[in-house]
Amino acid sequence: MSGTIPSGESGRVERHEADPVVTVDDFSVDYVGQVTTHAVKHVSLTLGRGEILGLAGESGCGKSTLAYGVTRLLKPPALITTGRAQFHSREGWSVDMSSLSGEDLRQFRWDKISMVFQGAMNSLNPVISIQAQLEDVFTTHRPDMSRGERVQRCGDLLERVGVDRSRLKSFPHELSGGMRQRVMIAMAMALDPQVMIMDEPTTALDVVVQREILDEITRLRAELGFAVIFITHDLPLLLEISDRIAVMKAGEIVELNDAYELYTNPQNDYTKRLLASFPSLTGERGDFIRTGVSDDRLAESTERAVVA
Ligand SMILES: Nc1ncnc2c1ncn2[C@@H]1O[C@H](COP(=O)(O)OP(=O)(O)OP(=O)(O)O)[C@@H](O)[C@H]1O
Ligand SMILES: [Mg+2]
Repeated sequence: MSGTIPSGESGRVERHEADPVVTVDDFSVDYVGQVTTHAVKHVSLTLGRGEILGLAGESGCGKSTLAYGVTRLLKPPALITTGRAQFHSREGWSVDMSSLSGEDLRQFRWDKISMVFQGAMNSLNPVISIQAQLEDVFTTHRPDMSRGERVQRCGDLLERVGVDRSRLKSFPHELSGGMRQRVMIAMAMALDPQVMIMDEPTTALDVVVQREILDEITRLRAELGFAVIFITHDLPLLLEISDRIAVMKAGEIVELNDAYELYTNPQNDYTKRLLASFPSLTGERGDFIRTGVSDDRLAESTERAVVA
């Protein structure tokens, strides 16, 4: 791995590394073809229990490939060429995700680690009601659950993400984009996973809806204690919601640090350039706004950046 990974000076960095829920070691993925793309190159990182880890970097740098590789969702021509990814359950056991296959992998994936895919809100089946699509998760993964309990749980899930339970009867086209995305987040939370991977979950939404959904995610994280890998190229947004941020460039993690540290004291040139490309984060001369702001003030300034 190239670049600078600041050693954990901040308490938050140490805490997340001390109690990991996912550890990724020397992980590489190629897309094999006439020209082979080395999409992810020797990535190592730790996701702390209950942490929001932001994954930033420009389009094509390998964010989705890393996330889908770790959760074993990639299909040929993608090939994991080195490394492994381990999951450490809150119940005290660990599993190498690359050793799972078939039914074990399918069960594991939705139960322990769930995904909100890039463009997910368009993946709801248009001719099936929201209720039937939510219920499907329970019929598949909790076959012993009674129908009454399933319906109750589906309504509870919708309400948890801020959608009225009367919407269970709706079809996807009757919901706004924001509501459909909330349904996808509800579905990903259905089985109380310990990790949620969210790939650009709010990118297609207008800023007001985006803000509401981010608030829901941070509130639910605090309430339920799941960890999140939050993928986006929107660095101001990540600075606001993440505990730590990993910056990716051309398949490598070039910097990983506490979000506030990364903002106030970026080490890697690419991180500096990425930060500088968001005018809302920099002063008139392009210097980073570095006024000894507290976390709250940082949150405020980035909130303006997100809402602006
Ligand atoms: N199915 C595929 N076959 C071949 N190459 C692929 C495939 N999917 C992705 N790639 C390549 O792998 C690299 C990483 O792509 P990836 O989709 O992981 O990037 P990303 O950071 O998620 O980008 P974005 O922000 O646009 O979603 C890119 O060079 C891309 O062209
Ligand atoms: Mg992507």
